[in-house]
Amino acid sequence: MPASGNRDLNNAKSARKDEFYTQLTDIEKEMRYYRNHFKGKTVFCNCDDPFESNFFKYFVLNFNRLGLKKLIATCYIGSPIAGKQFSLSDLFDDFPKDDVSQKNRQIKPYKAIINTVYDKTGDGSVDMMDVARLFESGENQLTRLKGNGDFRSPECLKLMDEADIVVTNPPFSLFREYVSVLIEHEKKFVIIGNVNAITYKEIFPLVMNNQMWIGASIHSGDRAFYVPDDYPLDAAGCGIEKATGRKYIRVKGIRWYTNLDIKQRHDEMILVKKYNSEEYPSYDNYDAIEVKKTSDIPCDYDGVMGVPITFIDKYNPDQFEILGMTDRNNQYGLTTKIYTKEDGANYGDCNRRGAIRQSDGSLRSTFARLLIRNKHPEFPKES
Ligand SMILES: C[S@@+](CC[C@H](N)C(=O)[O-])C[C@H]1O[C@@H](n2cnc3c(N)ncnc32)[C@H](O)[C@@H]1O
Repeated sequence: MPASGNRDLNNAKSARKDEFYTQLTDIEKEMRYYRNHFKGKTVFCNCDDPFESNFFKYFVLNFNRLGLKKLIATCYIGSPIAGKQFSLSDLFDDFPKDDVSQKNRQIKPYKAIINTVYDKTGDGSVDMMDVARLFESGENQLTRLKGNGDFRSPECLKLMDEADIVVTNPPFSLFREYVSVLIEHEKKFVIIGNVNAITYKEIFPLVMNNQMWIGASIHSGDRAFYVPDDYPLDAAGCGIEKATGRKYIRVKGIRWYTNLDIKQRHDEMILVKKYNSEEYPSYDNYDAIEVKKTSDIPCDYDGVMGVPITFIDKYNPDQFEILGMTDRNNQYGLTTKIYTKEDGANYGDCNRRGAIRQSDGSLRSTFARLLIRNKHPEFPKES
């Protein structure tokens, strides 16, 4: 296939990943760790169709429990799952049906502003019917955006500036840019992404400098996301939910990212292994040792260690510091050697990664590694 064909295919695949819709249970499981942070705050869900998003649903239905000051949600033009999630439009009596019909909504992005949530219908509980009535009564506002709802558009950035905390699952293909906007606007956030995002050149420095970290509830396995009806059922991990008939896809490597402090981030990892040079070979091109598994980090090593990317799930900034990573063209000045083709056919891989000299003199490159140091290594006690 020609190169441009490949690029088109990759773009198409990324665009489809922009259409993974988060389940309410996954949102609930993460948000319970941030309750103290939400009190008295304005939350902004800026990739969230108020008619469809479970983020909007979670925050509007927990508005009083969390003590929110305000909730804002905006969506992007052309939501491909319009009418699938819980269809707030069906709950409106007076709101012009045409205006919120699936077809029209695909070309008209909306902004929802919630200032109050209570039992408007008087049926004894607060549900989405009350949310619809509170829009109709004008106590909350549901209005059209002027532009296309792009999170980078001036009207959406203005709303972001008004907010304290941004919470969403942003489009996968724009993750780097999305995070840059949050940082530029000095926002607190809780967002979903892929664990590999920490290796991106725009994201890694933020993780290294403790400007963002991994959330509390997901550290392994896969998670199901709803996908549009036309999503190919033969795609790996794709299935149909029995109860609702909705298509979903199971996605590996999902993580929450945040810059709100959580207790889990300060949990100390218990280190049980001791350093020895056979089990922990030194790299030939870094002044560091190779640690194949995070759980094998030796408790008594005070130098630099190369650890798997998933170390990030256990990273406690009181216990460890991150100094850099391999795969970054020596951006952190930690590489001690540059290989040439005289060093073997795999010299390119070895330059990119940590390289270990084998007993026959050849080099073996490792997987991508974070380069870390234990801040308080245990030293062997004198007997
Ligand atoms: C991964 S989906 C998640 C949707 C929703 N946050 C959820 O979790 O169910 C990303 C959403 O971002 C929207 N989107 C795509 N590009 C966008 C942009 N430039 N600005 C704002 N939203 C965008 C897509 O329409 C899609 O609804």
